[in-house]
Amino acid sequence: MYNAAKLDQLIQQMTLEEKAGMCSGKDSWYLKDVSRLGIPSVMMSDGPHGLRKQAGGGEHLGMQESIPAVCFPAACATAASFDRELLHRLGDTLGKICQQESVSVLLGPGINIKRSPLCGRNFEYFSEDPYLTGELAGAQVRGIQSHHVGSSLKHYAANNQEYQRMSCSSELDERTLREIYLAAFETIIKKEQPFTVMASYNRLNGEYVSESRKMLTQILREEWGFEGYVVSDWGAVNDRVKALAAGLDLEMPSSGGQLDAEIVMAVQNGVLSEDILDKTVKRILQKVYEFTENRENVACSLEDAHQIAVEMEKECAVLLKNDGILPLQRNQNIIYIGEFAKHPRYQGGGSSHINAAPPKGAWYFSDKAPCFCPQSAEDLSVMLKAAAEADAAVIFTGLPDELESECYDRKDMHLPEKENSLIQKVCAIQKNTVIVLHHGAPVEMPWVNETGAILDMYLGGEGVGEAADSLLYGDSNPCGHLPETFPLRLEDTPSYFFFPGDGKRAEYKEGIYVGYRYYDSKKMPVLFPFGHGLSYTDFTFDNLKTDREELTETGILTVTADVTNTGNRAGKAVAQLYIKDLTQTAQRPVHELKGFEKVFLKPGETKQISMTVSAKSLSWYNPYLKDWYAANGEYEIQIGQSSRSICCKKTIAFHGEPKLKYRITPTSTVGELMKIDILRPTAEQVIHSIKTQILHPMSGESEREAEHRLLEMILGAPIRSIRSFGGTTDIMNDLIRQFNKILLDNGCLAEEE
Ligand code: BGC
Repeated sequence: MYNAAKLDQLIQQMTLEEKAGMCSGKDSWYLKDVSRLGIPSVMMSDGPHGLRKQAGGGEHLGMQESIPAVCFPAACATAASFDRELLHRLGDTLGKICQQESVSVLLGPGINIKRSPLCGRNFEYFSEDPYLTGELAGAQVRGIQSHHVGSSLKHYAANNQEYQRMSCSSELDERTLREIYLAAFETIIKKEQPFTVMASYNRLNGEYVSESRKMLTQILREEWGFEGYVVSDWGAVNDRVKALAAGLDLEMPSSGGQLDAEIVMAVQNGVLSEDILDKTVKRILQKVYEFTENRENVACSLEDAHQIAVEMEKECAVLLKNDGILPLQRNQNIIYIGEFAKHPRYQGGGSSHINAAPPKGAWYFSDKAPCFCPQSAEDLSVMLKAAAEADAAVIFTGLPDELESECYDRKDMHLPEKENSLIQKVCAIQKNTVIVLHHGAPVEMPWVNETGAILDMYLGGEGVGEAADSLLYGDSNPCGHLPETFPLRLEDTPSYFFFPGDGKRAEYKEGIYVGYRYYDSKKMPVLFPFGHGLSYTDFTFDNLKTDREELTETGILTVTADVTNTGNRAGKAVAQLYIKDLTQTAQRPVHELKGFEKVFLKPGETKQISMTVSAKSLSWYNPYLKDWYAANGEYEIQIGQSSRSICCKKTIAFHGEPKLKYRITPTSTVGELMKIDILRPTAEQVIHSIKTQILHPMSGESEREAEHRLLEMILGAPIRSIRSFGGTTDIMNDLIRQFNKILLDNGCLAEEE
């Protein structure tokens, strides 16, 4: 294994031109070799729900064929598994495939947050929630890298739309950036050390991410300890020298040596220090050798991988609705409707497109049930007659390829009009109508109340047909849960007015209120909430306990609860742990996901699930502290089956180190004092004494009303106003001294301004 000293020696032997050359691709997929020094050329390839290895130079937009490979469910689907082991297995399988195909880095997973359902690449991303994203994508990275194949975590960062993605500036405040858009990157980088991070195309608050020292060096390396190399998204480099100095190591693909020459010139002119270049080359070579010196003799055949893809998709599909029609019986008279019954949509377009064998749809596994794909009016009436006479009709529908792809966003959340109309016609004559959906992001469902059941397969990979058959007939039990909210309509989405912006700027004015953080805080009706997913059995959650009542800064609190399968089929339940901040010291969403566990239960069985909570689980990103922060006080722990179905809860207390510093001045209001937990008892005494002195109900006002009015007035009043209500300057100064003394004694007195 090449160690740091050997790499230093190697770099010393390289010419300036060779070093600059290491910092860009040889072609679309390979890094350069330096044969005189024995430095090998290694390959990177797209994925990440399969391997898209292009033979030869290739290009990066999925237009040219790549080698035949198995297409696993896309991230929109795997995220619905709420299953870390499943993602680890996916990563492990991909790691083996990469070893087999000599691919050193798999370009993924993509972990951008689903800010709007319209983003064209949402099918490649996991969730609207950073915790879920970090946990699941982290497991995938761990699986890939367990085979000494690198993962490239992308697209860093705030790349949440395709419209003008190569130049548009995502405009957002620091708290939103850290809490929503960087949190999953932070988790995975700290825990998994991916070989590489891919710098996105877009600008962030005006600056290209690929040129941002704050993003590529300060946050990524200095704060989070990232040890790998940063690769540009394909063609994301704007100013090569500036990018290199900011921390962008590898430019991809090749720019034919043009930008390497700029690096050479910058070093020669003294604009760029050679030391920065050496460090860059070292980071790249470290990962090159980590791959080449750990080659594994592993393999995964197309047949084995296909079987894994089928098994995975069974765990990912989400049963959104079931009036009792599902599961179907094999001896029922069922008709299948829609082209997707035979040729399902199973992956999205663009650079993640896998050259998979066209999958067989569910119909092929159904003992050849009648299948209709009406085109003409005549066909339609034949189909409607058959539907009316059948025991049930299953409509396979969804979004067509051309609506979901890299490079552009959707304009609305509609299914094609002809699909909606077909569904409505069938539902009008057959109440047992089952909808099977194939799509990468939420759609509006104007017919939701007319259907008997809805099974969401998302973009389920090449095993989608077989998995749908197994789920529809109850050979498997659905256990997926939505990793995103399905809003009723596009107009309800928090970014509605601001997405995708004017092409120059995309303003994230909804701030931290993304997905359920918005819908749940506003108590808005939604089509299906975050975390929702039904089963053919039922579960109850109760007996929530914690191993302690109080959590400290460094402590871990263990939460347990009992999950019981109360139905008569085996199945998997997903326990979701949300935390609600009761301290009222900052603007927080009504609750946030901070834990989940998937558990298999036989009929009648009860199992205890256990999850842990730390100070970080309670925290929000405080831009003044430049750190995660949880106020002292009470927090509610909730366990539920979705963000809208909380089954049990318990309040715990948090006692952390004082981090925020304050100084009380004559203009500090009583309300501000009340928000600082250590000052609250004294502030309450002050309020009490003022109230008893000046409480005078006005005519017609009850004592309670007067007290309320007075309290609100006092809370809004600065301490200095005590002088206008009978107090003196001495009393005011005494009070201020008293409060600052408490702050001093507790180590949280701020310097004087
Ligand atoms: C995409 C990346 C991809 C790269 C290489 C870019 O257009 O944004 O996700 O990995 O191409 O194909």
